[in-house]
Amino acid sequence: MPVKTALAMGKILSSGKGRIKFEVLSNPEFMAEGTAVGDLENPDRVLIGSHETKSGLKARAQLIEIYAKWIPSKKIITSNIWSSELSKLVANAFLAQRVSSINSISALCEKTDADISEVSRAVGMDSRIGDKFLNAGIGFGGSCFKKDILNLVYLCSYYGLPEVAAYWESVVKINEYQQERFIANILKSMFNTLAGKKICILGFAFKADTGDTRESPAINITSKLLMEHAEIIISDPKALKNAAIDLAENKGSVKYVEDPYRAAAGCHALVILTDWDLYRKLDFKRIYHSMVKPAFLFDGRNIIDHNKCFNIGFNVYPIGKPALSHL
Ligand SMILES: NC(=O)c1ccc[n+]([C@@H]2O[C@H](COP(=O)([O-])OP(=O)(O)OC[C@H]3O[C@@H](n4cnc5c(N)ncnc54)[C@H](O)[C@@H]3O)[C@@H](O)[C@H]2O)c1
Repeated sequence: MPVKTALAMGKILSSGKGRIKFEVLSNPEFMAEGTAVGDLENPDRVLIGSHETKSGLKARAQLIEIYAKWIPSKKIITSNIWSSELSKLVANAFLAQRVSSINSISALCEKTDADISEVSRAVGMDSRIGDKFLNAGIGFGGSCFKKDILNLVYLCSYYGLPEVAAYWESVVKINEYQQERFIANILKSMFNTLAGKKICILGFAFKADTGDTRESPAINITSKLLMEHAEIIISDPKALKNAAIDLAENKGSVKYVEDPYRAAAGCHALVILTDWDLYRKLDFKRIYHSMVKPAFLFDGRNIIDHNKCFNIGFNVYPIGKPALSHL
């Protein structure tokens, strides 16, 4: 919900002539797709915002009573409505900012001899920083992150804080930059032309364990590869229906094949865009032998064994580490 939704709801509910008095609470949820039930059963915290009036506090207490049935009281925190609504945006903005921060460093790693996985591990072991949300890749997607950051940017601009707005907007810009870098790397590595080349996209969902493709980096990356006249074959265990909707304008030039082995056969390149566990376990030797040579492998999620694939014969391009190329 945008910040100030509770205020708007309150105004609407009190605009009638009835005698009923409503209290509006803010109770943002922090569930992520794929882990929603676990997140609900065992959340890091429950946040309840209310007006700090007598009736507001009474309403807040009633909601606390419901959560207290399964959540330890120290995990239930309260605040005023504004803080509660803003905390939801800020939590997502901080998570996305971590992804953009590590991705920005991955660009630097590619220019030097540093390896982003090593940097991420060393940085994440600092208990003040922590190791979550520090995997470099093609960037974040999903229905929440971009929308919530842009909401925050809007609020900052509205309240006359252009420097703060620009700071948070840069998180989205780095996310877009990371995808552009990835696309440029594919183009450059494949001899500056993709026309007529078959590219197998492994994964279209914005993250593993969901069929959701909203704001998936795969949409932008695939669309740009199509603009370069590549032939695209998309494989994903859960997201093919949504992918077909997202790419409806390109009907003739995209094929959808669920089985990754069939999808990769006859292709010039594999491009991993979602961190599905099944891609870690693929028989890359079998895939390599079914592909056109030289065979390229672009790992947009850094999830496979790069050295092993290089030894099989692939030219391997990870994110934030040196390419392993036979060319
Ligand atoms: N999805 C919803 O319906 C929903 C509803 C309400 C609130 N929320 C809130 O929004 C947040 C985002 O939810 P979500 O469902 O988009 O999922 P999420 O938080 O799991 O993933 C968001 C993005 O971050 C990336 N990511 C995840 N782990 C990463 C890591 N270790 N390193 C780098 N990138 C990583 C993912 O690939 C994805 O693109 C949740 O944490 C929750 O607090 C979500």
